[in-house]
Amino acid sequence: MSGHGTPIPMTSRRGGPLKGTAEVPGDKSISHRALILGAMAVGETKITGLLEGQDVLDTAAAMRAFGADVQHLGPGEWQVHGVGVGGFAEPAQVIDCGNSGTGVRLIMGAMATLPITATFTGDASLNKRPMGRVTDPLALFGARAYGRQGGRLPMTIVGAADPVPVRYALPVASAQVKSAVLLAGLNAPGETVVIEREATRDHSERMLAGFGAGLRFEDTDEGRAIILTGQPELTPQTVAVPRDPSSAAFPVCAALIVEGSDILVPGVSQNPTRNGLYTTLVEMGADIAFQNPREEGGEPVADLAVKFSSLKGVEVPPARAASMIDEFPVLSVVAALAQGTTTMRGVKELRVKESDRIDAMARGLEACGVRVEEDEDTLIVHGTGPDGVPGGGTCATHLDHRIAMSFLVLGLAAQKPVTIDDASPIATSFPAFEGLMAALGASITRPNR
Ligand code: S3P
Repeated sequence: MSGHGTPIPMTSRRGGPLKGTAEVPGDKSISHRALILGAMAVGETKITGLLEGQDVLDTAAAMRAFGADVQHLGPGEWQVHGVGVGGFAEPAQVIDCGNSGTGVRLIMGAMATLPITATFTGDASLNKRPMGRVTDPLALFGARAYGRQGGRLPMTIVGAADPVPVRYALPVASAQVKSAVLLAGLNAPGETVVIEREATRDHSERMLAGFGAGLRFEDTDEGRAIILTGQPELTPQTVAVPRDPSSAAFPVCAALIVEGSDILVPGVSQNPTRNGLYTTLVEMGADIAFQNPREEGGEPVADLAVKFSSLKGVEVPPARAASMIDEFPVLSVVAALAQGTTTMRGVKELRVKESDRIDAMARGLEACGVRVEEDEDTLIVHGTGPDGVPGGGTCATHLDHRIAMSFLVLGLAAQKPVTIDDASPIATSFPAFEGLMAALGASITRPNR
């Protein structure tokens, strides 16, 4: 769904400690993949715990447009009657992926090796983001892309009628690109090979294997090769979506910086390709207990018990960046309330997310009295200690849900309230954020309320 309607400003301010249990929504990455693979299997896939954020709802609508029957059965409970690998119909309308880079890039991959044409668009944020990183490898399969300058949406993909398999070494550490190539490889004959130098989230590999695709892995001089055997018949699955570690990051970080807080965040995915933030927080001195570790829906999960902590600044190694790529905004908030400097290098991918997240965080932190340094690939935050952030700023969120939630977390610990210009993008990934934070005791208000 494009456009976000009227902006919704919001203000957060200091109050009492955060207490209670925060049940965060299902994982966004896994939710997109469950709908797409469900649509590519023959028969009925059941999904529980699906994130019902706008990004995922847009992917559900897209799967319907390609011919799958997608039913909402109850809260988080969905059923997809898939059309099989190679079974997508040509959509009659433009596919609107709203704010979601994952949605559009994965769906482009899934349709690019079929003899159909589809046109994709999104909101003002998505239509600025680069698609060449996906259309370049899709062209190797034989697909053609016609977009705006710089490879931007709106864009039409003419799928390859006679696709050839591809061997592709990823030029950027991107799970979206890796997944688009693997999904395209599903409908190509022979073996499609994707090679990644740095590990990125592996939900597609886990889920493809779960749906019965032939996958194997090899270590090569160029990196780890993922080898997919094309044209499998995918078997429908029951997918239990674990809770999203990227959404959990907001209540977790809020509890760490609001004095006296003590919260529980149950059932959060601990997939090692996603948990770089938690490793970093523990290095900073965070009091987080990872309780009751177990497996749910093919992913490791744990209950996180989190208490207010005295934190110190750290160097985040660039090799960890991919495993916490969506968490740098909220980490930079925590860093502002730590003692000493936190250095984040190797983070230039942040510049092409829903917004330029290095710029958005640097400007908003400065508006709240925090000293930052940045270059193309680096963000450095000079921490002021738990009581040292002046706050009082108004921060621009640039249609970016994670920027919006990060600055609302900052306001809970800053000396003066922090206002964001628009909270509406939060609905893309975490529609229950406002209510969940209020239930913990956070003071987050809309004007005139
Ligand atoms: C995602 C991959 C990441 C991440 C995004 C979700 C995914 O993007 O930032 O929010 O589900 O594959 P990149 O793959 O472009 O790094």
